[in-house]
Amino acid sequence: MTDQDVSDFTNFNFDDFGMDTELDEELHAASEGSQFAGVSLAVVDSDQAVRDYLGSLFDGRVDAAGSLVEIETRLGLAPIVIVLGPSCADSESLAIIEGWTRVHSNVGTVLVTAELSTELLQRALRVGIKDVLSAPIDQEALIQTVTRIADGLVSTSPQSAGPAPVPTAGDGQELGQVLTVFSTKGGSGKSVTATNLGVVMAQRTDRPVVLIDGHLQFGDVAVMLKLQPQHTVMDAISQIDNADASMLQALMTVHEPSGLLVLPAPVEPTFADQVSGAQMAHLVEIIRTFAGHVIVDLPAIFNEVVLSIIEISDEIVLVAGLDIPNIKNVKIGLSTLSLLNVPTEKLHLVLNRADSKVKLDVAEVERTLRVAAVAHVPSDVVVPISVNKGSPVVLSATKSGVARAFEQLALRFIDGATASGSASSGRRKFFG
Ligand SMILES: Nc1ncnc2c1ncn2[C@@H]1O[C@H](COP(=O)(O)OP(=O)(O)OP(=O)(O)O)[C@@H](O)[C@H]1O
Ligand SMILES: [Mg+2]
Repeated sequence: MTDQDVSDFTNFNFDDFGMDTELDEELHAASEGSQFAGVSLAVVDSDQAVRDYLGSLFDGRVDAAGSLVEIETRLGLAPIVIVLGPSCADSESLAIIEGWTRVHSNVGTVLVTAELSTELLQRALRVGIKDVLSAPIDQEALIQTVTRIADGLVSTSPQSAGPAPVPTAGDGQELGQVLTVFSTKGGSGKSVTATNLGVVMAQRTDRPVVLIDGHLQFGDVAVMLKLQPQHTVMDAISQIDNADASMLQALMTVHEPSGLLVLPAPVEPTFADQVSGAQMAHLVEIIRTFAGHVIVDLPAIFNEVVLSIIEISDEIVLVAGLDIPNIKNVKIGLSTLSLLNVPTEKLHLVLNRADSKVKLDVAEVERTLRVAAVAHVPSDVVVPISVNKGSPVVLSATKSGVARAFEQLALRFIDGATASGSASSGRRKFFG
């Protein structure tokens, strides 16, 4: 790093830190025992200014080392989380860290870098670094990341009486349910449905619930949940061949109000072309090894990615607005899904904006489509308000009919009371 780089890195937002009392309390709680209990914390960077800066983000309650070699004597003893500064991003350092990862299961690392490229992220995750954060360094995000890594170390430590380990493939957990939210017309309410379902499911179930924004070009799940993600689906896809459950978890952003884990759409719409259906399906398959439910929000188009996801879905929520073009497209969509041999039991029609103010009669629509909807979501101004606020109606307008409709819909999938599940009250026929 040049002097200018160091000063860019260390000066950013520095003055903001230490002013936030809520954050200060969180930090003290973290360092004084609860969250980092039994786990040491260290920062490593060759530059003293960077070390001091990183140490200050933890209120100075960390050990500091000028090189990886210097910290090596500490490894293999108690669990330790090491915050690696930008000087640890060169090939030689990454090779050393790879060696640590192979030998020590109780060492967790996070790399903090001035600038993050996809290539660096890939290399870092491949050598076993749990997460990479780039400047401007958000103190809260860094603390959360370190806490998560520390919790993971505690839970996998043999002597630990800490929290239960995150279930992964092969530990006897069932594969999670894959629930796709799809429609044949843009703007019908898929993302609103997916985000509300995700929040309810995350609140009401014990295993992790993951929401993937599969609208790779123009996904807006992150905006609807007011998230500022560090990573996107693209980061996961770019290293999908080496990905495992813990690597993918590190790329997800937590929706704090509900605990929902989110993998948002790429920021650049052009990336969408580089993703294959097989890669997306593989991503979902890995995620379902640790998540109880994987919700995928899709675009209103039948492309390779969409078809691959539909193929591996356990349940498909088909969202339709209540107007003639929507109904016409739902009919076409249903025929297409039938041609693709998607079992009718997997399909669940949701009529959005279905209330008396709409000119179309719901019963008439259901007769035309030869299917009964599993949910009628009313049209309500609380929805656009919630979208603009970045807080789904199930959190921000809990008493509204829309929130109640989404809650009931989510419960169908949580309880397995879907048309394909055991508690179905009479199977609904989609075709013929
Ligand atoms: N029940 C509702 N009542 C009122 N407005 C709604 C309702 N459902 C959705 N909307 C509005 O419709 C807009 C589109 O919804 P949403 O983004 O969920 O659609 P989408 O199907 O995901 O669109 P796209 O195909 O572009 O991904 C939202 O901004 C929201 O404000
Ligand atoms: Mg959408």
